[in-house]
Amino acid sequence: MISVSHLSHQYETQGESVEVLKDLNFSLSEGAAATVTGPSGSGKTTFLNILGAMLSPTQGEVKIGGKDISSFSEEEATHFRNRHLGFVFQQHHLLPQLTVMENLLVPRLAGGWEESEKSTRERAHELLDYVNLSHRMDHQPSELSGGEKQRTAVARALMNQPKVLLADEPTGALDEETGAKVTELLLKVQREHAVTLVVVTHDMKLAEKVGGIFQM
Ligand SMILES: Nc1ncnc2c1ncn2[C@@H]1O[C@H](COP(=O)(O)OP(=O)(O)OP(=O)(O)O)[C@@H](O)[C@H]1O
Ligand SMILES: [Mg+2]
Repeated sequence: MISVSHLSHQYETQGESVEVLKDLNFSLSEGAAATVTGPSGSGKTTFLNILGAMLSPTQGEVKIGGKDISSFSEEEATHFRNRHLGFVFQQHHLLPQLTVMENLLVPRLAGGWEESEKSTRERAHELLDYVNLSHRMDHQPSELSGGEKQRTAVARALMNQPKVLLADEPTGALDEETGAKVTELLLKVQREHAVTLVVVTHDMKLAEKVGGIFQM
């Protein structure tokens, strides 16, 4: 599902070049899970942003589902992200003025969403039920616990039925017990929704649970 070869990336800032990734190779089969670990500043987020078609690499080939995403135009990348990828970040990135349910419906607003609004709503209900948050659907994010916010973020990431789920330190802002529950949820999603999962983490416990450890 994911195949990365000879990937290198340099950031150009203030006339200075910062080399972050160098000749990296990585592959992951459909429905499998991998953890990307390594010290702070080693390029984990950079790598995930490249996999997520949010950043164009300086060199190398990045294929997802057979598509070479490294050569995408801005427009193609946006379309690909909306259609095929799910994201979970360390901070949930929920919109504070919207309810939990409305946050799930946001991806639909990006446009080009072909299914009926009714079907989208039905899926939002199913997903909230799946993450055990049906009883909180009319609440705002500020009224949720950290774990509930992150579970909402996981449900939102699944709204477009992604083939690939990318998570950057998804438990980084949570205590150990809550983090463990979110990890369980991600693994359940990987098994039951047949997504290919890539998790970036410092947390060795999480890494061991998810497996497929890739050290930066
Ligand atoms: N937009 C940018 N411009 C210039 N340098 C950047 C930019 N983004 C990141 N970097 C540099 O690239 C390196 C890798 O950053 P990255 O965020 O990928 O690391 P990370 O492994 O995710 O770290 P952390 O564990 O702290 O989140 C860092 O040295 C950082 O300073
Ligand atoms: Mg990072």
